[in-house]
Amino acid sequence: MHFSTNDNSATLHALFPTLVYQSCLEDQQRHQTAFKEEAERFGFEVERGTGGKHFTGEYHGQILLHQQESLRPFFSTLAEHVGKYLRVLGMKPGYFEMQCLKSWFVLCPPGSDEANAIVMHNHSCSDISWVYYVDVPEDGPVIRFHAGQRLNTSPFESSFHYDWHNEEKSAVDKLNWWNRDTWSIQPKTGDLLMFPGHQLHSVDANCSETMRTSVAGDISLVLREEHLNLEYGRTASKHWLTLPLSQ
Ligand SMILES: [Fe+2]
Repeated sequence: MHFSTNDNSATLHALFPTLVYQSCLEDQQRHQTAFKEEAERFGFEVERGTGGKHFTGEYHGQILLHQQESLRPFFSTLAEHVGKYLRVLGMKPGYFEMQCLKSWFVLCPPGSDEANAIVMHNHSCSDISWVYYVDVPEDGPVIRFHAGQRLNTSPFESSFHYDWHNEEKSAVDKLNWWNRDTWSIQPKTGDLLMFPGHQLHSVDANCSETMRTSVAGDISLVLREEHLNLEYGRTASKHWLTLPLSQ
C-alpha cells in the first residue's frame, strides 16, 4: 500500500499494517438469544476493581462455550467470517479448518473507576482472536488496540508524546495512523471483531449505566487432511501425541 505526500514530491510506503475485521452479523437476534440461554450455565460472579480479571469466564474456567450444540449456528457463522478474513489477507481458506480452543463470556459491570478496565493483554495461544458483542450499551467502553513496540515512533518515542490537555505542549501536530500508539473501536450489539491473537488490546472501564455482555474466543488454524503434505502449518490436534511432563 502506498501514498503520495500532499505536494506529490514523495511516495510513502505503508508497511505491515494490521487488519482488524469488524462485521455486524445477520441473525443477531438469534445469536443473542442463544448466548443469553447459556449465560446461567457459563456465568460467574463478577468482582469489581480487579483490572478486569474477574470479568472474564476465562479467569473462572468457563471456557467451552463452543461445545454447546445450541451455539452451533453462531460458530458456523464465525467460520464463514474467518474464511472471509483469510481471503482479505490473501490466503487460501480452503487449505485450513478452524479449531476453537476457548470461548468465554466477558461481563463488564458499570463502574467508571480505572480498576474496572480490562488491562492490556494478548491471547498468545491463538492464531485469531474474536469478540462477539451480545449486548452492549451504545455509550459503553471502546476496545483499544495497542501498537506495542512496532511503531514508527519507537526510536524516538518520547518526542511523539501527544498532550491531550494542551496542544501547545505537543510536538505532534495531528494524531494519525502513523503516529498513534493506540486505536479504539466502538463496538455495537451484534458486531463481530477478529484480530491476530498476538495483537495487544484492552477495554476501557464501563462508564455507562448498564452491563456490557460480550463473548470472546481463540481460534487455531489447522491444515485440512488433504493438505497434510504441505511443509508449513499446524496439524489438527487429533494427530498429536500428548504426554504429561515429569515434575
Ligand atoms: Fe482479550
